[in-house]
Amino acid sequence: MTLKESKRTNKIAVIGAGYVGLVSAAFFAELGNIVICVDNNHKKLEGLKKGLIPIYEPGLKEMVLRNKKAGRLTFSHSIKEAAEKSQIIFISVNTPARQDGSSDLAAVQRVALEIAKAIKDYKVIVEKSTVPAETGDRIRKTIEMNMPIRIDFDIVSNPEFLREGQALHDTMHPDRVVIGVESRRAEMIMRRLYAPIKAPIIITNIHTAEIIKHASNCFLATKISFINAVSAICEKLNADVKMVAQGMGLDKRIGSAFLEAGAGFGGSCFPKDLNAFIHMAEQKGYDFKLLKEVRRINEEQKRLLVGKIEELLWVLKDKTVAVLGLSFKPNTDDIRNSVSLAVIKMLKGLQVKIKAYDPKAMPKVKKEIKDIALCRDPYEAAKRSDCLLIMTEWEEFRTLDLRRIKKLMRQPAIVDARNIFDPEELLKAGFAYKSIGRK
Ligand code: UDX
Ligand code: UDX
Repeated sequence: MTLKESKRTNKIAVIGAGYVGLVSAAFFAELGNIVICVDNNHKKLEGLKKGLIPIYEPGLKEMVLRNKKAGRLTFSHSIKEAAEKSQIIFISVNTPARQDGSSDLAAVQRVALEIAKAIKDYKVIVEKSTVPAETGDRIRKTIEMNMPIRIDFDIVSNPEFLREGQALHDTMHPDRVVIGVESRRAEMIMRRLYAPIKAPIIITNIHTAEIIKHASNCFLATKISFINAVSAICEKLNADVKMVAQGMGLDKRIGSAFLEAGAGFGGSCFPKDLNAFIHMAEQKGYDFKLLKEVRRINEEQKRLLVGKIEELLWVLKDKTVAVLGLSFKPNTDDIRNSVSLAVIKMLKGLQVKIKAYDPKAMPKVKKEIKDIALCRDPYEAAKRSDCLLIMTEWEEFRTLDLRRIKKLMRQPAIVDARNIFDPEELLKAGFAYKSIGRK
């Protein structure tokens, strides 16, 4: 994980120490830049100052500690201080969804206001958070209207494409770097910042960069819903969706990534970005029916899962389901928009008893949901349960001792929402088994 330090050190402020902000701050510091990371969550910030990392992300802790020790990465509650001391200011606060699907940009506006009051010389202000098109214009206007004296600055859109669970790898080895700019000066500063990264740099105007981000996430979500729809056909025709995906994916024009049929997509990005893009299109007079269908298929996938459990257990009331995997995907403790938690809610509505296990997400689940029995390991979860439900493809679930599991369960039934097991092997081992898109 070593990258050559960039020859010229940049002074950077990153506002918002979340999944995107903290990873970006650590990474820019790793490149040799001086980075101040700001957050308004007092507890989080005090923890970070002591070296406590608020999220689980492989390799992040080591990178933060290393750069903190080297004096390249510091933490502050003050946007004013960070903005004054930096030339490039990244905005990476969260942009949650509102009821109508649009993005809540209140935090972005708050940060823009504070930047307006703080800057005394030329700055490049970069939107890193995922935001709808035209947010850059709004940030510019907010700053212009609220700065005490006229100072030159540039707005840049530099969307982040990292995936949680492999955030550092994605940040260090991106497929591309997208930079939406409106001046040559800002372009040169951003090019210099990314010079140590070996990836194509796409320079566009700001609206284009904003749309690249939303369109990319929506396209990936479309791939997932497409293969989930195909999985329904496979089940009816005794075909195997995994093989179908493999056969399709080898065509370079299609590509094999994001063609895993399963429980559907969750997380803090795809569902939110899909809604935001549909909403933004609607406001501009375009009814994005394709994406509405992507969303519908994704919702349906959860109901199909409950139906599969019902097929195996018949009456669900008072049955016990052992759920393995609570985060929205493996290698993260993030439970935002977790499909697993949504399915658990549906099952609880049907008076099913839930026992659950997750390698990393249980502390977060414990804080948010009170009435789930959280277990020490998958075997404790399986004990006296009627069905094992695999919701996330954590590596440790692939190597479960299925003989032991079978002995522990009240009845040997498995619903595998991520297709991690081989159907024939499971049937041979004496399980009633259902997966996605395979007989
Ligand atoms: C990121 C992007 O910014 C978001 O637009 C995208 O859709 C998902 O990824 P993320 O990093 O996951 O969001 O958000 P989160 O982990 O919630 O972190 C945001 C941080 O900003 C939090 O630590 C929060 O305390 C901080 N924050 C929020 C501020 O410092 N100031 C604010 O006004 C609001
Ligand atoms: C996504 C984008 O991939 C990333 O570029 C962007 O910056 C943020 O949003 P993330 O949400 O961290 O990243 O995870 P990702 O790996 O994309 O998975 C999202 C969801 O899709 C998960 O729930 C995952 O289980 C699901 N998924 C993914 C599938 O169901 N099938 C697949 O083939 C791939």
